[in-house]
Amino acid sequence: MSTTEEAAGGYDYDRRLSELKAFDDTKAGVKGLVDAGVTTVPTIFRHHRQDGPQVSSSSSSSCNTISVIPVIDLSAADAAAREEVVAQVKAAAETVGFFQLVNHGVPGELLSEMLASVRRFNEEAPETKRAYYTRDARRKLRFNSNFDLFQSPAANWRDTLFCEAAPEPPRAEELPPAVRHVMLEYSGAAREVAARVLALLSEALGLGPGHLAGMGCADGLSLVCNYYPPCPEPDLTLGCSAHSDPSFLTLLLQDEHAQGGLQALLASGWVDVPPVPGALLVNVGDLLQLVSNGRFRSVEHRVVANRSRDTARVSVACFFNADIARSTRLYGPIAELITSGDGAGRALYRSVTVPEFLAHYDKKGLDGRPALHHFQLLQ
Ligand code: OGA
Ligand code: NI
Repeated sequence: MSTTEEAAGGYDYDRRLSELKAFDDTKAGVKGLVDAGVTTVPTIFRHHRQDGPQVSSSSSSSCNTISVIPVIDLSAADAAAREEVVAQVKAAAETVGFFQLVNHGVPGELLSEMLASVRRFNEEAPETKRAYYTRDARRKLRFNSNFDLFQSPAANWRDTLFCEAAPEPPRAEELPPAVRHVMLEYSGAAREVAARVLALLSEALGLGPGHLAGMGCADGLSLVCNYYPPCPEPDLTLGCSAHSDPSFLTLLLQDEHAQGGLQALLASGWVDVPPVPGALLVNVGDLLQLVSNGRFRSVEHRVVANRSRDTARVSVACFFNADIARSTRLYGPIAELITSGDGAGRALYRSVTVPEFLAHYDKKGLDGRPALHHFQLLQ
């Protein structure tokens, strides 16, 4: 089998491309396939064995009653316990790269309404959604299935609504009616939480609390609203391929009512990251690993395909980044972290602008290789 055929899943490149185009042209996403009654997973969605869920050492069926993902109480950070919270954040960011944040101050009704609105949008008539379907990155509001459909080796069983919510949010009229009343309110609340988490992370690096925010790490916010329809053959595909996030920081709101599906790649293998009711999940993104000179870890994660027979899973990821459209700043390892403490004594990564980093990430697609490797300095 030639490399091209392998990448194409063992069948002809041209045939694969025409199937991808045909799927994209429906503008109905994976939900459209499910509504049309597919009982098998089309070839373009079939993943190879090595990245499929069947090789996990801890599949979602195994019982992780006690999750390895730390739970951190943000309300304690305002009080006498701040140092302790900084220590917890430091330990989490340096090891598993994820933590569940509770008592973050965002009302439960806002969380559930945000998730409900994403479900409503995706469950509208196909004609309604089709109007928003685009791959034009200049549009602040985009709906599509698989941002990397034409780049990645296999497509994922999910549809996504993107919104560039900061620094300049779209006008309310540009938002689909299903999400209009809640999306900007939720993104405002998420920005407040992110600001508090960035202060804790800055302190955890031994820097002043305003250091990361002052670098512009959360000036921009991309809202990534995911919809994972039920999958007829969940062992053959994924909800989302293994990847690390193209952000400084990600705040993930998970659907408590779904069967889960998010997994992180830790030393012991793939482990479930089940939703904690009312919590927001925080994870370190690639750019924070870069500026922290590798102290904080942007851990690979994936979503297994939805095994439910009738209910979609939804999630809302807030990707905090610099102003992705306009930032010209070069981000490299922070000087204090190269020379002091238990740092490597040298920069592990070269400096990069956010647009350059994102261009690399998007061009590569979710192909299983970490985007950060490209910016690593070989010594
Ligand atoms: C993402 C992501 C996880 C989820 O959008 O980057 O990892 O549970 N999502 O949807
Ligand atoms: Ni992610």
